[in-house]
Amino acid sequence: MKRKTSMLIICATLILSADKTLLAQKDEDPIKEPYRPQIHFTPGAHWMNDPNGLVYYNGVYHLFFQHYPGASNWGPMHWGHAISRDLIHWKREPIALYPDSLGYIFSGSAVVDKENTSGFGVGGKVPLVAIFTHHDTARERARRVDVESQSIAYSLDEGKTWTKYGGNPVIKNPGVRDFRDPNVMWYAPTRRWILTLAAQDRIIFYSSSDLKAWTKESEFGVGLGSHGGVWECPDLFALPVRAGGLSSGGRDSVWVLSVSIGWGGPNGGNGTQYFTGKFDGHVFIPDDKEIKWVDHGRDDYAGVTWSNTGNRRIFIGWMANGEYAGSVPTEVWRSGNTLPRELGIDKVNGRYFLVTKPVKELGILEEGWKGFKDSVRIQAPFELRLETGVVGSFKVVLSNDAGERVVIGFDKEWYVDRRGAGREDFHKGFAGRHTAPRISQSKTLSLALVVDVASLELFADGGLTVMSELVFPSKPYNKIEVVGEDGVVMRTLRVTKLKGIW
Ligand code: FRU
Repeated sequence: MKRKTSMLIICATLILSADKTLLAQKDEDPIKEPYRPQIHFTPGAHWMNDPNGLVYYNGVYHLFFQHYPGASNWGPMHWGHAISRDLIHWKREPIALYPDSLGYIFSGSAVVDKENTSGFGVGGKVPLVAIFTHHDTARERARRVDVESQSIAYSLDEGKTWTKYGGNPVIKNPGVRDFRDPNVMWYAPTRRWILTLAAQDRIIFYSSSDLKAWTKESEFGVGLGSHGGVWECPDLFALPVRAGGLSSGGRDSVWVLSVSIGWGGPNGGNGTQYFTGKFDGHVFIPDDKEIKWVDHGRDDYAGVTWSNTGNRRIFIGWMANGEYAGSVPTEVWRSGNTLPRELGIDKVNGRYFLVTKPVKELGILEEGWKGFKDSVRIQAPFELRLETGVVGSFKVVLSNDAGERVVIGFDKEWYVDRRGAGREDFHKGFAGRHTAPRISQSKTLSLALVVDVASLELFADGGLTVMSELVFPSKPYNKIEVVGEDGVVMRTLRVTKLKGIW
């Protein structure tokens, strides 16, 4: 009898744990597989790339994303959907847009059409309008150039369900093979919508009064910036120049045009460059010819910002690199996002630069911090902050019991060295030492490093230099060592444990 009971208990436990494994594969459940990010958004299952349709409405941040629900590799593109009230905790929602007779649903944006300029709003409902690229694979197979065109869809139930416009596409292909990723904003001075589009080696600006009929305004970018690859996923927005401390030259805002490139990023593979300048509703005039990068790490691509967030400008990127995103050692899903980041602008040596910080809401996850000297034992997710007494070399080493380590530091420039950091056999281009220039001129070095189970995000010098990098340790890193070289001492050094979001 006793024997039977214990057998029963064993069986029940086995069934329970088998169930848990099954549950872990489902979309809506907390998930703990190896390498599953604990403080970053990932799809429950299958493939994700670019963030799309970022819009804030009625207290909810919408995150749509390039998604193939059939496998953990790129395929026929849909818009997946997730929502959040705090940018940190995400709820996965049903797929928002499916491929149709005009093609796959490629990247794009979404706006709140408060004044119902589109006429899609009925019964006083405010329409959300998504603007995206239709990618026609039949035309692609026929080797035609007019593969990509721009279309719209609207939602009258706050993003839950979407209706595609009967008059799609709203911008036909003019004979340019790569013609995609429309990003729309309201430009109040002319009371028109501005659409920023990536067209192979340039940006084309269009304007519209109703989101349906678009007029070409101007082109930008031939011979400017980096052209290592096709231009993709642009974004255009104004950032206020910080009051005090800056000689703004009479400007109270700076326009930023960001452009992702599929190849030719600062450390190889893809990357996102940006231009600062002026925009008058018709043309973008850059301040200079310098090439600047949103993120110098290997793993931040196709990032764009939320619309309708008032004075805040919040960015999120796809934390991956197209060079190896399809081979990373996660099978249930592939790819997560960066942390949402707040963007600002700063003037250094007469030039404007982006300042990027994790959104303040990340603080919700803090479980108390502790100071330490030289080394400490801790497991991800956590945040490390330090400030040196002078500008000089130092390094932060994260290591595990398998002898794997990743080194983050400063040696005349910022760097992340992920050689020997964990699994790297899946792609020859993965392991490497990646560097980023120091932009700040301050007399001390500072760093905030956010570490999740398979990634690190470095915000150096208050966010003037950023690096996002994936790592795949075979066992969790459980030790941090901080080594000041050439007598560099730490003025502050502290680590904060973060709670997981799922
Ligand atoms: C960028 C990109 C976009 C395109 C989408 C397709 O990663 O190539 O230009 O719209 O991905 O999934």
